[in-house]
Amino acid sequence: MKHPGKFITFEGGEGAGKSTQAELLAKRLTDKGIEVVTTREPGGTPGAELVRYLLKTGMLEPLGPFTETIMVSAARDDHLNEVIRPALEDGKWVISDRFADSTRAYQGSASGVEPEIINALERIVVGDDQPDLTLLLDLPLETGLDRAKSRAGEEGVEDDRFDRQDKNFHKNLREAFHDIAEQNPDRVVVVDAGRLKRSVSSSVWKVVQDRLLS
Ligand code: TMP
Repeated sequence: MKHPGKFITFEGGEGAGKSTQAELLAKRLTDKGIEVVTTREPGGTPGAELVRYLLKTGMLEPLGPFTETIMVSAARDDHLNEVIRPALEDGKWVISDRFADSTRAYQGSASGVEPEIINALERIVVGDDQPDLTLLLDLPLETGLDRAKSRAGEEGVEDDRFDRQDKNFHKNLREAFHDIAEQNPDRVVVVDAGRLKRSVSSSVWKVVQDRLLS
């Protein structure tokens, strides 16, 4: 076994409810006496939160998707070294709102960075520390975009770089996440996120019980 903890990630397009579901799952696990660390990407350390701000405001956009890929990977390296690996080595469970699949979908499939570059950076930065389980929260395009619009202004970012993209970008994103799920059936489970928060949370819990607690 690589480490005693468990690593769970939530992925999906804009407005899928990842952070809410991550919190609800953390509560269920904590109630079972499991020590949980919840975190997010880009973010989780002061340096990585700075990259988050630069990414979400679009300040990195003029530098192009290749630079965005380098920057989110650097943020991930810091996050893994400072937060994720130490917690897993301590036997804690780590739940991250987004991780490396987001780079593959946003910078790779939807923005055109070649898979060779994404694969190489992932190998260097993530190595063997892939998530034990990834919950892909899937939502019809329109629902996700409407939900994301109603959240505008959160985190001090009025004009989110990705909320601004056209429908085709978001359609590509959704397909990219589906491809990732198809290619990684042992790790990724698709959850229908177009339902009430409570129903989504029950589905998530069932998957976690089946895959990691049985
Ligand atoms: P969110 O957590 O509110 O979805 O915001 C994070 C944003 O960052 C989201 O638009 C997706 C984007 N992102 C990337 O473009 N690449 C990445 O590698 C990650 C982790 C996130």
